[in-house]
Amino acid sequence: MCGIVGYTGKQSVVPVLLEGLHQLEYRGYDSSGIALQRGDRLAVHRRCGKIRVLESDLPKRLAGKTGIGHTRWATHGEPTDDNAHPHSSEDGRFAVVHNGIIENSDPLRARLVEHGVHFASETDSEVLAHLVAAADAPTLLERVRLALAEVEGTYGIAVIDAESPGEIVVARNGSPVVIGIGDKEMLVASDVGALVRHTQQVVYLDDGEIAELTPSAYRVITLDAAPATKQSASIDWSEETYARGEYSHYTLKEIHEQPESIRRTLRGRLDRRFQAAHLGGLNLDARELLNFRRIKVLGCGSAYISGCIGARIVEQLSRVPCDAEPAAEFRYRNPVIEADTLYLAVSQSGETFDTLSAVQEIKRKGGRVLGVVNAVGSSIARACDGGVYLHAGPEIAVVSTKTFTSTIAALALLALHVGRMRDVSVAQGKRLLDALDALPDAIQTILDAEDEYRQMAKKYAHYDNAYFIGRNLGFGVAMEGALKLKEVSYLHAEAYPASELKHGPLALVSPEVPTVFVLPDDDLLDKNLSSIEQVRSRKGPVLAVTHPLGENAERLAALADDVLEVPKLHEYLDPILMLIPLQFLAYFIALERGCDVDQPRNLAKSVTVE
Ligand code: G6P
Repeated sequence: MCGIVGYTGKQSVVPVLLEGLHQLEYRGYDSSGIALQRGDRLAVHRRCGKIRVLESDLPKRLAGKTGIGHTRWATHGEPTDDNAHPHSSEDGRFAVVHNGIIENSDPLRARLVEHGVHFASETDSEVLAHLVAAADAPTLLERVRLALAEVEGTYGIAVIDAESPGEIVVARNGSPVVIGIGDKEMLVASDVGALVRHTQQVVYLDDGEIAELTPSAYRVITLDAAPATKQSASIDWSEETYARGEYSHYTLKEIHEQPESIRRTLRGRLDRRFQAAHLGGLNLDARELLNFRRIKVLGCGSAYISGCIGARIVEQLSRVPCDAEPAAEFRYRNPVIEADTLYLAVSQSGETFDTLSAVQEIKRKGGRVLGVVNAVGSSIARACDGGVYLHAGPEIAVVSTKTFTSTIAALALLALHVGRMRDVSVAQGKRLLDALDALPDAIQTILDAEDEYRQMAKKYAHYDNAYFIGRNLGFGVAMEGALKLKEVSYLHAEAYPASELKHGPLALVSPEVPTVFVLPDDDLLDKNLSSIEQVRSRKGPVLAVTHPLGENAERLAALADDVLEVPKLHEYLDPILMLIPLQFLAYFIALERGCDVDQPRNLAKSVTVE
């Protein structure tokens, strides 16, 4: 969603800001803008649409060394030039960029209007510019602090002042702000991806903190004006990690990165001595872990679906009851937080508002929550009591691919860890570890069949509706397969458990509605084959993603129009292998339909508002 970037230092600021904004594009946005200090005034340029619209509109010579930029995702007010950030005070002295939502913007706006302020936009954010201008204080830092004392809601902000040369003030409450420390230059962004080109040294602001940046120093205080001591951290990833390289899309790149991302998730965590998993970040000893009677997984979107699959693996392997729930549903139903339940928050970005709020709700009620998070140092990771980092590397495409499969691998490790403390034998542990070891190569064999999926996509791209059907772990694969297709190709796709077919979905099965079956070679194969028969007898086209089926292969061939085979590895890891053809299918169908795969309409990578 909205992105912030800011720079003060020796370089010409405009290219730095524009490059930073491009790095933030993947989060999803509908307009962009920059503001910079030029002599004793500010220059502000904002445009609705893609960043290139803003770029083509900028004056040729636009020099300055200090500025802020923003990509906006409309919440209050349509995507228009006027609603784009930065927002300025009436006299043009102050400019503000804001991520988040100012909840009391209506009364603040009414009060400011009463005092004669004229608003230039419909946004909640604009009140910040006027509040800063109205604050009675000698420094920009103090003005921003006083302004924020009046504000309720969430924010990550960056502010510049025409009369404070070389200075940017930033603040955070519920929306990420990261300071980048360079050599005689200081940066700020809502996402480390926008900083890596300039520095590897960062400082993460915490909620309730305000910082003053100048080219040579930063100073952090709290909203109560108390000094805050901050530790800087190093970012693991370099600029190349964020590049698209030889691939036409980030989505394709990230699908192909899965052998490597899984290797990174597993690295150092396979405990061959005890045939168990070694998870150093849980901050829970064996006794504490054994006391949990239930495990609850929370997340949004694909993170929730990976949690659904992971929960079944945890429950089946460890025999601890485990289920998954969308994080927002959970937090709004006033959940009972039990001391003997272990909560797991799954999130790629570590910034999803609903997941973070669920974590905070659990903690407020005294519960224990671990994060299964990709972004190191992110808000969710820091709010949790411990957890498992995915280490899958940055994921840029809006739809999740490699972090989805890494989450399942991480949850399988957790299942093994808990399972080996209970009933899982050394032999069972070894079988899963052997399979985890073999997983990256097995994924590679599927990636090598890319052409087959490209061809298959051509055949299915013209449909407008599709069902995805599976059972047990296969149902999770069906859910994610349907979500991927819907997100990137805008084709309507619905997932159902196979057992539910006859309770409604069959009504819509026809030659115009294909069904994708997730058909592992497991104990439920016969049941699944008879579900396929039900679809066939209504003349519904069938595409099956399956294992080499031996003597059942002929039976399937008689029922399915198309079959995609993946290697069989282990019942808990097969969902990963069966999903990858569906990721490809969604990708290639989106291309066939001329869709913007990396940045699907209306979707954002990181949903930092409610
Ligand atoms: C958005 C993205 C999804 C993602 C979800 C959760 O909706 O478009 O791809 O699964 O947020 O994001 P998280 O960063 O918490 O995993």
